[in-house]
This record gives sequence, C-alpha cells and structure tokens, in this order.
Amino acid sequence: MSQHKSNLPQEAPTLSIRGVDLWESWLSPVKQRQILEDIRTIVTKAPLLEPVTPSGKKMSVRMTSAGRLGWVSDSSGYRYEANHPYGTNWPPIPQSVLEVWELLSGSVRSPDCCLVNFYQPDARMGMHQDRDEVDFKQPVISISLGDEALFRIGQKTRGGKTDSIWLRSGDVLRLGGEARLIYHGIDRINSGSSPLLKNGGRINLTLRVVS
Ligand code: SIN
Ligand code: FE2
Repeated sequence: MSQHKSNLPQEAPTLSIRGVDLWESWLSPVKQRQILEDIRTIVTKAPLLEPVTPSGKKMSVRMTSAGRLGWVSDSSGYRYEANHPYGTNWPPIPQSVLEVWELLSGSVRSPDCCLVNFYQPDARMGMHQDRDEVDFKQPVISISLGDEALFRIGQKTRGGKTDSIWLRSGDVLRLGGEARLIYHGIDRINSGSSPLLKNGGRINLTLRVVS
C-alpha cells in the first residue's frame, strides 16, 4: 500500500491558505475535554519542560511529548529523543489524539511524536519551519485547545508575505503537501478567550512522523 494513501475519505477543510488546511471547531467540547484529561496524564508522567534554544535563549512555551520519540531543545540543538530528559520513556500517544490523525492526516503511517506545547498568556513562538523529521511527505497535524492564538503563516522560505488566522479551541490544522515546510509561528495568545482551561492558557498538540 502506498505510504501516503488515505485511510479514509477526508473532510474538506473550512479554510485553506497556501496549502495550510484548517478544520475549524472540528473537535466537540466533549472531545476537547477528553483530550485535555489525556494530556493531564501525559504531563503527570512526563513533566513540562522549559526548553532553551541551541543559542541559549529560554523559550516561552513549555513542552513535553508523548509517543516513541519526543522533541527536545537544549544547547546541543533541536532533536528527537527516545526519553524525557529525566530518563523515563515518553507516555503513549492517547487514542483520543490518534483518532484525529487517522481522520485528517491522509497518512497510513502512525505518528511517532505528539509534541505538547503549553502557552501561558505571554508565551509566543517565533517563525520557524518544522524540519527535524526525515520524511517531509508526511504531514504535521496540529490541535488547538484553550485560549485562542494568532497563528502566522508565511512562505516556504523565510520572509515574504504572511497571513494571520486565529486558532481556537477545537480547531485542527494540517501542514502537509506543498505547505509542509511553510514558515509559521504564534504571535500572541488572547488570554481568557476560552473556558476550557480553568487557569487559562493554551495547549497545542502537534503530531509528527519522525523517522
Ligand atoms: C508549533 O509550530 O510547534 C506550534 C504551533 C501552534 O502552537 O499552533
Ligand atoms: Fe511548528
């Protein structure tokens, strides 16, 4: 079977910008709460980290992972590791999250990593490409929970025209095909815009096939 054949017919996205597909409000509030519970379990086993960039800057987004591999950043660089820095395995990717991948990724592979990003109100993420994976034919699926975030979509090279969209709780986004290596980032969080997390903030999950 082809590696890129769809498992199932895919729903049309509600918005598409330069190949970045967005399914707005795709997850019901019940599903969002289920995923949130599952993330709490992940964070209990694999505590959130405060990564630093290879150049030594502390990132404002706190991170952990689930899956066979987890994404980490420190003075040695950006990379995937089989263990949390505390030495334990990463917890498995929950079924509630795998279902989203199965229905929207269009890939027959399973994700190796679910990166969990936690944004406090002042957190942001600079423009970057997701390029620490081996096969750029495999998409990245992103799930937003909690406070809405201003997501900026650039071009396949640094610079040029950008477009901004708000990502809201329950939205699912895909960076795939032509858009897989597009520059993207989070400019800001609209604190208090969602009731999902009782202390506010935003969670973003990205599912990736790593190797
Ligand atoms: C990321 O690019 O890793 C995160 C994007 C987001 O938080 O929506
Ligand atoms: Fe990214």
